[in-house]
Amino acid sequence: MSSTPEETAPYGGDTAPAASPTPIKRVRTHHLREMKERGERFSMLTSYDQLTAQVFDEAGIEVLLVGDSASNNVLGNSTSIPVTVDELLPLTRAVSRSVTRALVVGDLPFGSYQASPEQGYLTAARFMKEGGAHCVKLEGGVEMVPQIERMTRGGIPVMAHIGFTPQSEHALGGYRVQGRGDAAERVLRDAEAVQEAGAFAVVMEMVPGDVAAEVTAKLTIPTIGIGAGNQCDGQVLVWQDAFGLRTGRMPRFVKQYADLRSVLLDAARTYDAEVKDGSFPAAEHTF
Ligand code: KIV
Repeated sequence: MSSTPEETAPYGGDTAPAASPTPIKRVRTHHLREMKERGERFSMLTSYDQLTAQVFDEAGIEVLLVGDSASNNVLGNSTSIPVTVDELLPLTRAVSRSVTRALVVGDLPFGSYQASPEQGYLTAARFMKEGGAHCVKLEGGVEMVPQIERMTRGGIPVMAHIGFTPQSEHALGGYRVQGRGDAAERVLRDAEAVQEAGAFAVVMEMVPGDVAAEVTAKLTIPTIGIGAGNQCDGQVLVWQDAFGLRTGRMPRFVKQYADLRSVLLDAARTYDAEVKDGSFPAAEHTF
């Protein structure tokens, strides 16, 4: 097919992914375990769309989580609780289609796996088949052992999530650190239980640094911290928090690496002003 001078890129321009910077061609669950064994850290970010997935993949982020945090970062809710499987699947598909290297984790939303191992398996299978996820994440420790066993037996790799689990915000009495004092034993028990059940990694959220360090030393599977200190094998943040698209009160564990909200706000104001004063589009934007 010949291209004419009038032909132009699709809306959004050229979105082809660039080459990845490190030798692993496709990050698999065993690579994370091998990195732990070598004492190497890995990084994980949330992503919910094509373009951030491509950028984070190109940056060398090993794991992209299509989190249920899409609920309160993309879909306009104030917590992760209302988001549904049918809302998360297209986002998961967008991310899995857009990466060449990163491991893509589909996050099972509230109510889609807790009822029974069978319910959990069928939901997880949808994330793999329809969402193109490479594995799934679920929240819970000891009580999720039957679900993790069922999924791993059925060929679905599972990342567990313990400590503070946002889907149980109301049961836990709000956003609070888990595992202080005597409760440290509970975090350790949960971590050992999910490992024993077959999880390939475990996220620990809002757990004291010394407790997370002890869990990391005891487990053979990688730990991934969010508000769990710097001794975990990997770290995860919600990208809108890490890169400053969201502003306002942030949890203490968030570090902001950029101020994207200001950049976007300035750009949007400049565009608005130029449309209104007639300086955009100029001659070079006109056919
Ligand atoms: O959904 C999410 O973003 C998460 C991370 C906070 C780990 O579960």
